[in-house]
Amino acid sequence: MRKKNQAFMGFATLLFLACCLCICKSMPTEVQRQAVNDRPVIGVLTQIVSDDVMKPFGRTYIPASYVKYLESGGSRVMPIRWVQLTHTDVEYENIFKKINGLLLIGGAVNLETSDFARVAKLFYKLALEANDAGDVFPIWGTCMGLQLLTVLVAGKNLLTETTAENIALPLNLTTEAYSSRIFRDVPPDLIKAVTQEPLTGNFHHYGVEVKTFMENEDLQSFFSILSTNVAENGAHFVSTIEGKKYPFYGVQWHPEVNRFQWKSNLNFPHSRHAVQLSSWMAEFFVNEGRRSLHQFDNPEEEASSLIYSYTPIYAGNFTGYEQIYFF
Ligand SMILES: *[C@@H]1O[C@H](CO)[C@@H](O)[C@H](O)[C@H]1NC(C)=O
Ligand SMILES: *[C@@H]1O[C@H](CO)[C@@H](O)[C@H](O)[C@H]1NC(C)=O
Repeated sequence: MRKKNQAFMGFATLLFLACCLCICKSMPTEVQRQAVNDRPVIGVLTQIVSDDVMKPFGRTYIPASYVKYLESGGSRVMPIRWVQLTHTDVEYENIFKKINGLLLIGGAVNLETSDFARVAKLFYKLALEANDAGDVFPIWGTCMGLQLLTVLVAGKNLLTETTAENIALPLNLTTEAYSSRIFRDVPPDLIKAVTQEPLTGNFHHYGVEVKTFMENEDLQSFFSILSTNVAENGAHFVSTIEGKKYPFYGVQWHPEVNRFQWKSNLNFPHSRHAVQLSSWMAEFFVNEGRRSLHQFDNPEEEASSLIYSYTPIYAGNFTGYEQIYFF
């Protein structure tokens, strides 16, 4: 009898403890829970048209693959048509207050003297200030976007020739990658695939060499190197970086091509793991955007700002892209 009672008491205590644990566990998270924005909008700076065959269609463009990539991660996209703006800082500040992150896409412009670089720098500065004030604002740079981020942080162009043109490579992950925000939650089988299979498409002639990066105090203290690769000339270049303090990210490779570009003469990885990696990157960055509470002033303004009112054109017969938005 006594034994049974003890057992019952033990059970009751367990129940009580369990409840207490539940409450104790839920209380602090309730208090610490931060507002989440499940309707993020990521801004994309339109890219200058430099290719003659593209000139008849507009002055600036965004390949549709980047748009689909962001949309696949659960975001909407706002094209930032900076060429059409009057270039007052107030205009950029206004846009900044409405979007929840910025994607700097690939292209070919001067990273110090072009208008594109100047506009990117404005957003970069606004993002630094905002993040410092606790107003989270993520930036992701792909290919030239990564290069641009390094120029903005270092205050000078440190690029050297690191050609890896039309080649898919595995990533040589650094030790830091395993505890990084980008990679720490990636499932082990995908991490293994990333390091062993050619899942990252490279289309570049320049990059930041690991040695250059390590010797630059500004870059060193701002970014962690998460992966490196070897160029055709043997140079080791930085292929994935992540801000130590800021939610800024850069990849020298192209995660969007794995799911949204199909030119058969270009080495776009399309394997199951390649698709998974691309999805992972898109979802990661968009989720960073959910931490930003910026919003449009009203639904009409939002509707007229988003990419949905633009139509991409078929470009598969004159570019490496299937579809492009021109502005
Ligand atoms: C991978 O990176 C390490 C340094 O992090 C370097 O020593 C090694 O040579 C690299 N391996 C390849 C195959 O790039
Ligand atoms: C590409 O295809 C479109 C649609 O078929 C056609 O109108 C256009 O003239 C073609 N462009 C070139 C450069 O061949």
